[in-house]
Amino acid sequence: MDAFDAYVVDQDGRGLITAGLARRHVHELRSPGVLIRVQYSSLNYKDALAMRGEPGIVKRFPHVPGIDAAGVLADDPTAAPVLVTGHGLGTEVWGGYGDYIRVPDDWIIPIPAGLTARDSMVLGTAGLTAALSVDALLQAGLEPDGGEILVTGATGGVGTLAVALLANLGFTVVAMTRKPAEQTYLRGLGAARVMAPADGDASDKALHRAQWAGVVDTVGGEVLAQVLKAVAYGGAVATCGMAAGTRFQGSVFPFILRGVRLLGIDSVQCPRAVREDLWARLAGPWRPSHLADIERVVDRQGLGPAAMTLLQGARTGRTLVVVTGA
Ligand SMILES: NC(=O)c1ccc[n+]([C@@H]2O[C@H](COP(=O)([O-])OP(=O)(O)OC[C@H]3O[C@@H](n4cnc5c(N)ncnc54)[C@H](OP(=O)(O)O)[C@@H]3O)[C@@H](O)[C@H]2O)c1
Repeated sequence: MDAFDAYVVDQDGRGLITAGLARRHVHELRSPGVLIRVQYSSLNYKDALAMRGEPGIVKRFPHVPGIDAAGVLADDPTAAPVLVTGHGLGTEVWGGYGDYIRVPDDWIIPIPAGLTARDSMVLGTAGLTAALSVDALLQAGLEPDGGEILVTGATGGVGTLAVALLANLGFTVVAMTRKPAEQTYLRGLGAARVMAPADGDASDKALHRAQWAGVVDTVGGEVLAQVLKAVAYGGAVATCGMAAGTRFQGSVFPFILRGVRLLGIDSVQCPRAVREDLWARLAGPWRPSHLADIERVVDRQGLGPAAMTLLQGARTGRTLVVVTGA
């Protein structure tokens, strides 16, 4: 068990980044904690950045990316499967693209009945983030008959799952996507209508026609700036992403004239009780019925091209990474 396979990102003496499968040793998993044999992981936006050695994410080389992992306890493989997402997995400590991870006990969530280890990684960080976003809108008082909810970056991992969760809860969901060819996919997830970013009002007026009761924004940047102007009185925007940029310009008018609330979503440090509650909902009443339509499956050999597609904004749905398998 000492040697294992991992997708390793490294930097050579000239600063060039290399990435690929390599043999590593369990003793290199330096953090203290519980050893887990990883069966499945997933590919998130942050993983694609880590795979190219992004300094804000990779703290030191060599590094094993993978912010999500599901598997079994190495010293008790017959016990119920577990999952880990966020915290420092795949950033501070070696992540789910290795056969083994070692993580602190309080990062580990038992996978609730209703989900397999595989299902839990089709959801992964994207599923938890979508669930946090939907929960934030519910806590802000939004109700299914209160008007349309916009989801931006709708074909992405978080976007796909936000569309599915909101539609399952009975909300009228409008999916904003740059991929017109994915209309059928998005309608299949439950979107009532599909629009392109260019269909929105992009003028520099301080406010647009009040259109959205709520928004799950996975895109940020100029899209978020424009969307905020079109939120209806008392509406709320759950902002969780930055695929189109980290900065946005706007005015205070949506907030002071329409009482709009901007709700920040963080899946990395969110408290354990919140995670357990949301994973139980994802396994139970909120369980998306479309997991098979959403998943694209790769093994670690296929990670490079899959990450490239994701960074080009061309991925649809979620990418399940088979590590050692069940
Ligand atoms: N807050 C948190 O805890 C948290 C957790 C997970 C992810 N995130 C963030 O959420 C975002 C989505 O993550 P993901 O894993 O779902 O990534 P993803 O699968 O790559 O989805 C991002 C989607 O955004 C759209 N998009 C990409 N580039 C764009 C651009 N330049 N302009 C406008 N739209 C663009 C695309 O959808 P369309 O083609 O359909 O428009 C793309 O599929 C990322 O920024 C990620 O860092 C945050």
